[in-house]
Amino acid sequence: MIFRTVADLRAQVAAWKAAGETVGVVPTMGALHAGHLALAQAAKAGADRVIVTIFVNPKQFNNPDDLKKYPRTEEADAALLAPIGVDAIFAPAPVDVYPDGFSTTVSMTGVAEPLEGERRPGHFDGVATVVTKLFGMTQADRAWFGEKDWQQLAVIRQLVADLNIKVDVVGLETIRDSDGLALSSRNARLSPKARMVAAALPRAMHAAIAAVRADVPFAKALTQASADVLKAGFDRIDYFDLRHPATLAPTTTRPARLLTAAWIDGVRLIDNMPT
Ligand code: PAF
Repeated sequence: MIFRTVADLRAQVAAWKAAGETVGVVPTMGALHAGHLALAQAAKAGADRVIVTIFVNPKQFNNPDDLKKYPRTEEADAALLAPIGVDAIFAPAPVDVYPDGFSTTVSMTGVAEPLEGERRPGHFDGVATVVTKLFGMTQADRAWFGEKDWQQLAVIRQLVADLNIKVDVVGLETIRDSDGLALSSRNARLSPKARMVAAALPRAMHAAIAAVRADVPFAKALTQASADVLKAGFDRIDYFDLRHPATLAPTTTRPARLLTAAWIDGVRLIDNMPT
C-alpha cells in the first residue's frame, strides 16, 4: 500500500500501534538495489510492521543538477519491495514534506563536520532534517540504515541521542557485488569499462587494511593504496583515510575505520571498511 500524505500514514500507524505492533522504517531515496532490499528484509525480521519511505530529499543535494538527475523509479521500487512483504511505502510529494513557510533546519556539528561534511556543505543538515521529519511522520520504533554510508549512520546515531528521539537505529553491513564493489544507485551511471575498474577501490582498501594489520604505519599503507587506486584508472581521490569508527576523528591506532570517496567516469563513489 502506497501512502502519500502524513495523515493517511499516521492513521495506519495508529491502528498498528493500537494492536500492540512495533513499527520499523527503512528511509530511502528510491532507485532501490539489493542493498535497500536487504535493509527491508532485516526490518521485516526486526519489527511487526515495516514502512519503506521513498523521498528524494532536495535539502541534502549540494548540486541542483544531481537532484534533477537523481533516478525516480517508484513503480520499479514498489515491484521490488512487494515480494518482501513490506507493509507500507510512504512516498510523499516535496511540497508535503517542505510546505511553503517551512523554516526549520537540524544543524549538526561534530561527527557531521569532517570528510563528507567538508566536501558537501549542508549535506548532513539536509539529511538530519529529513530523517527527523521521517521519524516524526512514521512514528517508527526502529529504523534501518546501511553501513555503506558510515558517516551518515554516525550522524543519525548522534542526532537521535542529542534530540532524545525514541527510535532504535540499526546499521546493516554493506552489500557488495561479487567483485567487491559496494552496491550504490550511482554504480548504474558507470560505463562498462569504468564499472570494471571500480573494483580497484575495494581491492586497495583490503590491501591497506591487510597492511595496517601487519603493523605497517597508517600513513605508508594509505599512500600506497591511494596510488594503486589512481593507477587502476580512478580520476581523483577526495579522501582515503583511517578514522576513529565513532567520532571520525583522525587516528593512527586500531580499531579504525577506513573511509574513502573517489571519482571515476564523473561518478563519485564512497566506501568504508573496518580494520
Ligand atoms: O541514505 C539515503 O538514502 C538518504 O540519505 C536518507 C537517509 C534516506 C535521507 O534522505
